[in-house]
Amino acid sequence: MMKKELLLTFTNENTRPSIWLMRQAGRYLPEYRKLRGQAKNFMDFCLNPSLAAEATLQPIRRFGFDGAILFSDILVIPYAFGQEVTFVEGIGPKLSSLENIEKPLSFLKERFKEKLSPIFDTVKLVTSQLPAETTLIGFSGCPWTLACYMIDQGSSKDFFNTRLIAYQKPQIFKELIKTLSEAIIWYLSEQIRAGVEVVQLFDSWIGLLSVEAMKEWGINPTSYIIKEIKKEFPKTPIIIFPKGGYWNYLPHMEQLKADAISIDSSVPLTSLQTSTKRSYVIQGNLDPFTLLGDSKNLRNEVQNITQTMGKEKFIFNLGHGILPQTPLENVYQLVDLVKRGKK
Ligand code: CP3
Repeated sequence: MMKKELLLTFTNENTRPSIWLMRQAGRYLPEYRKLRGQAKNFMDFCLNPSLAAEATLQPIRRFGFDGAILFSDILVIPYAFGQEVTFVEGIGPKLSSLENIEKPLSFLKERFKEKLSPIFDTVKLVTSQLPAETTLIGFSGCPWTLACYMIDQGSSKDFFNTRLIAYQKPQIFKELIKTLSEAIIWYLSEQIRAGVEVVQLFDSWIGLLSVEAMKEWGINPTSYIIKEIKKEFPKTPIIIFPKGGYWNYLPHMEQLKADAISIDSSVPLTSLQTSTKRSYVIQGNLDPFTLLGDSKNLRNEVQNITQTMGKEKFIFNLGHGILPQTPLENVYQLVDLVKRGKK
C-alpha cells in the first residue's frame, strides 16, 4: 500500500483505525513548551522551519501517531494578507484591523510566496525526517473561520462583527470569501507540492451559522476549494472539519467530494453506522475533556468509539483540539487502546 493512502484506508482488515489528534503538537507537551521558549513570539515560531519541524515531530516521537500535522497556524493567511497577528498569553490571537472593509482584499501570489515560504521549507524538513509509516497532514482554515478572526480581530464567543457584515454587506463579504478561497487553494497546493500527503480544512466556527448561511459561506466555498485542489492533485485526500455543522453538510457530501469528514463530539456515531455505501471516511470524535477525567471512563469512551466504528474505515481523533491541561499518561493510554484495537 502506498504510504499516502494509509491514513484513509485503515479498516478492520488492517485490524485498527488510524489515529492522530488535532493540536497534537502543543502546550500539553513539556518538550513543546521548551521549544516554544526559543522563539521570540508565536508567529516567529510558526515561520521558523527548524523549530516548526521539530514541533511537528515531537508528538510522533512520543506517541507514534499515524499522522503528523504540520506545525503552523490557520492565522498565517491573515498575516500574509498584511494583518499583524500576535498571540497574547491566556487570551489568544489579536489581529490588527482590516484597513477598510469596503476595500476588497487582493490575493497577491508573490507576496504570499515571500511571507509563507518558510512553511513550505518546514514541510520539506519534516518530510526528510518523518518515519516512513507516518502520513504528513497539511492544513488551512476555511474562508468563514478565517474571516471570523480577520473581521473580529481575534477570538470571540459569537463573532458578532463578522456575522453582521455577512448580513449587512453580503456583496462585500462574498468577495472576501472568494479572495480567501483563492488564497487557500494556492496555499494548500504549495503545501502538497512541498510534500504534505493529506490536507485538512478547519471550519471551526461554521456552527454559528443558519442552514442557508452555512451553505453560502461554508459548503459552497469548501466545495469550490476541494474541486480546484482535486484538479491538480486528484490523489491527495482532503479532510473537512465543519465543527458544529455535520448535519447540514451531510446531504451535500456527494457535491463536496471530501475524502473524509471530521466530526465533533456532539455527533452520535451510532447515527452513522447504517450508511454502508458511504464514499468518505469518518474522523473523530472523542471529547477532549475525556482526557482530563478518569481513566476508566476514558477507556469506556474509547472502546465505545472503536467498537461502534469497528466495521468502517475510520480515523480516530478528538472532537476538537487537545487541551493544554491534558496529562501525558492519558494520551499514552488513549494511543495504546486504539493501537491494540479490536481484531
Ligand atoms: O498540532 C497541531 O494541530 C498543528 C498546529 C495547529 C495550531 N493551530 C498550533 C497552535 C493547528 C492545526 C492550529 C489550527 C487553528 N488555529 C485553528 C483551527 C482548529 C481549532 O482549534 O478550532 C484555530 C481556530 C486557530 C487559531 C488559534 N491559534 C487560536 C484561537 C489560538 C489561541 C488559543 C490556544 O489554543 O492557545 C492559537 C494558538 C496556537 N496555535 C497554539 C498552538 C500550539 C498555542 C499557542 C502557544 O503555544 O502559545
